[in-house]
Amino acid sequence: MTSSASITVDRAAVVAPVPRRLFGAFVEHGGRGIHTGLYEPGHPTATEDGFRGDVLELVRELGVTTVRYPGGNFVSGYRWEDGIGPRERRPRRRELAWHATETNEIGIDEFARWARLAGSEIMLAVNLGTRDIQEALDLLEYVNGAPGTTLADRRAANGSPDPYGIRTWCLGNELDGKWQLGYMTADDYGKLAARTAQAMNAAEPGLELIACGSSWTGMATFGEWERVVLEHAYDHVSHISCHAYYFEQDGDIGSFLASSLDMEHFIRTTAATADHVKAKLRKTKTIGISFDEWNVWYQGRPPTESEAPDAARIKAGEWPVAPRQLEDVYSVADAVVVGSLLITLLRNADRVEFANLAQLVNVIAPIMTEPGGPAWRQTTFFPFSLTARLATGVVLAPRIRTGEYDSARGAAPLVDAAVTFDEAAGSAAIFLVNRGMTGSQTVTIDVTSLGLTAVAQALTLHDDDVYAKNTLADQTRVGLTKNDSAAFTDGVVTVELPPVSWTALTLS
Ligand code: AHR
Repeated sequence: MTSSASITVDRAAVVAPVPRRLFGAFVEHGGRGIHTGLYEPGHPTATEDGFRGDVLELVRELGVTTVRYPGGNFVSGYRWEDGIGPRERRPRRRELAWHATETNEIGIDEFARWARLAGSEIMLAVNLGTRDIQEALDLLEYVNGAPGTTLADRRAANGSPDPYGIRTWCLGNELDGKWQLGYMTADDYGKLAARTAQAMNAAEPGLELIACGSSWTGMATFGEWERVVLEHAYDHVSHISCHAYYFEQDGDIGSFLASSLDMEHFIRTTAATADHVKAKLRKTKTIGISFDEWNVWYQGRPPTESEAPDAARIKAGEWPVAPRQLEDVYSVADAVVVGSLLITLLRNADRVEFANLAQLVNVIAPIMTEPGGPAWRQTTFFPFSLTARLATGVVLAPRIRTGEYDSARGAAPLVDAAVTFDEAAGSAAIFLVNRGMTGSQTVTIDVTSLGLTAVAQALTLHDDDVYAKNTLADQTRVGLTKNDSAAFTDGVVTVELPPVSWTALTLS
């Protein structure tokens, strides 16, 4: 059954310039994110530094603008000094967040080299779980200090005379969560974040400092955490974070496809809370949002055979190096959800300045690798890479008229869309999702106000099997296909969206 939706695009309805840093990702020390992910000396494609060249190529194709590093849960137990200097002298540590051995072969200097090769900027996190202000200041001096002081000189001696110039910093990670090393109350964290940020600002004005918000909307402290933290830290930080992971539960695919409703609610509620504190404290500055971890993640699913069940491993006292962990294999439905989450991030571009798909390689990632073998694109790679490449200029707010269906997250629109318009380039991009499971949607899009005349490209991600995946055995089972239904007549685009699909249209 085919039904219809209509969209009107108004070039005057500008939300904000496209924040390029919405297309960030996340690399954490854990699982095979780094070892046999980014880094595999001896791999046939390895660079002289031991980075996998095939992965670097895919990261560039993915269009990742910013990479958050080194965690995540990992950062809350990390001593950054372990990862610098001659490799043979670096300690091996028991890593408590993922229960593994951390070899420290890769540290900030190696990661900065990798990020340069990948063409990405670094967003760096400091440990406020088991450490304090001084260690954050030391790291800041090590990475950004001009030669002439001890830690900056140590960086130079370690091979990097030029400061890295890292501007964006996360003040700890998920410290509202009891799974986090050093988790604390909002009051304690707010004070620590304020003092750390105040000291970092004193060392280097103009940094973008991100306070931890809630780990997800289901936290009992959600809303109150943000209020308390910002009441302490408002003057010293520029952003507050949101983290969210979604997955299909109990076979309810309709509610899963509606995941972006939760992301929308998360963003709006966090912004409202920050604005409440702004009013209460009589401030003029507005706090931005860093959605610094988001993705589909099948938390709680039974581990696959290749993944050691963590509980058994912990009981057995094993501390493996880079075990297979969180290696989710993504389906078409997962990719459609990722595409719809990107639509939501774009729609909120006036408030969300950073976003990081978590993570990048092997660990809940768009890119998978085999040790000594190939690297390939998961289904989720496609909506991300296309959105990152095509979303330029400004975000416009389209008016969407579509049917709805009931979901556990409320009434879910069948069709959702985001529009970007690049006046200088004479082009626009329209990202569309059809969440409907039973029928296609014929969508008419009135773009008269843009003054464009043709559909340059229309690509759709869809498969009759919504659970189709790309795997080691079949790396290209799912991909993008040309959508031949797209047509342009008298300022109106018409396109057919198959059920459970994601589409990117470009106009010229
Ligand atoms: O990305 C995986 C984990 O999810 C991160 O380490 C943590 O911050 C979040 O809970």
